[in-house]
Amino acid sequence: MASMSNIASLFLVLSLLSLLSFSAKAQLSANFYDETCPNLQAIVRSAMAQAVSNEPRMAASVLRLFFHDCFVNGCDGSILLDDSPTFTGEKNAFPNKKSARGFEVIDAIKSSVEASCEATVSCADILALASRDGVIKLGGPKWTVALGRRDATSASQSTANNDLPAPSSSLSTLISKFAAKGLNARDMTALSGAHTIGQAQCQFFRPHIYNDNNTDPSFATLRQGNCPRSGGDTNLAPLDLHSPNRFGSEYYKNLLGYQGLLHSDQELFSNGTQDGLVWQYSQNRDLFFSDFAAAMIKLGAITPLTGSDGEIRLNCRKVNS
Ligand code: HEM
Ligand SMILES: *[C@@H]1O[C@H](CO)[C@@H](O)[C@H](O)[C@H]1NC(C)=O
Ligand SMILES: *[C@@H]1O[C@H](CO)[C@@H](O)[C@H](O)[C@H]1NC(C)=O
Repeated sequence: MASMSNIASLFLVLSLLSLLSFSAKAQLSANFYDETCPNLQAIVRSAMAQAVSNEPRMAASVLRLFFHDCFVNGCDGSILLDDSPTFTGEKNAFPNKKSARGFEVIDAIKSSVEASCEATVSCADILALASRDGVIKLGGPKWTVALGRRDATSASQSTANNDLPAPSSSLSTLISKFAAKGLNARDMTALSGAHTIGQAQCQFFRPHIYNDNNTDPSFATLRQGNCPRSGGDTNLAPLDLHSPNRFGSEYYKNLLGYQGLLHSDQELFSNGTQDGLVWQYSQNRDLFFSDFAAAMIKLGAITPLTGSDGEIRLNCRKVNS
């Protein structure tokens, strides 16, 4: 009898332990590297400050990398992997090809981090921190980045093609692509405010400025000036007409004036369900900032690899050999 109840309680303890280790495994935490890499945050912050002072757009490019990382099998650094003769990564998926940029900055930060904390910090976490620091550098909101992500040993070009939204997406497609990642319509509208910074190529906004009827005519004419009907595919225009290097709520003001650059941008204010929220964000920068920060935390928590899953990549461009 005694031994039976001992076995029963042992079983209970074991199952409690496995429950605990399971939940600990899935959890990211702000102090994950406090003991193992105490200078991590300072290293990333100063490297991003340098990169953004060299080229303000870099804050935007790195932020977009993080979005494109997290939407494809979670925030696992998969977008950072180079293609090779034996490996197909995500860099040549349609949403990334000749468009995703900032990889050299992530490499440089990774080198500095490795010099202080060898084989300790994931590329996925570096990308999460660098994105946040770039936003702050251009005047955006601050938030605490939860850490402890590990790096993928695989990538998926087809998932990148299927899961990332396209600039031609309708409002209902945008809402459903974000919903598939656990982000609601409000998160989607707040995160789209990332287009308060950075640039887009003519090939992505051409259909909107020539074919759509929900554009301010003088804005469409202005943008057509450097984006002909054919040719000039890579010519750039700022996503936010007025202040592409300052993170603020101007993006939403532009939408109210039908001056969104991408079809997908203007979809958020075109007699649809997000019109009211766009109007609120345009009037209330603090509301936009707090919703953006909250949504970035949700974006950063999409199915990370944790515990002993994945690896700590030594070079962000390739899996460890
Ligand atoms: C809602 C759906 C979205 C669509 C359809 C979309 C699409 C695009 C496109 C087509 C570009 C221009 C790329 C190029 O010309 O090379 C772009 C740029 C950018 N996107 Fe998005 N995006 C979306 C959401 C987001 C989100 C959620 C974020 C981040 C939280 C983001 C951050 C950026 C940034 C910062 C840029 C400028 C990048 C640079 O200047 O290098 N986007 N996006
Ligand atoms: C604008 O285009 C949309 C769809 O392309 C159409 O449903 C709508 O009626 C058009 N509006 C005007 C004012 O022409
Ligand atoms: C939105 O609705 C208003 C009022 O009905 C209409 O004048 C306008 O053309 C609509 N805009 C779009 C983009 O469909």
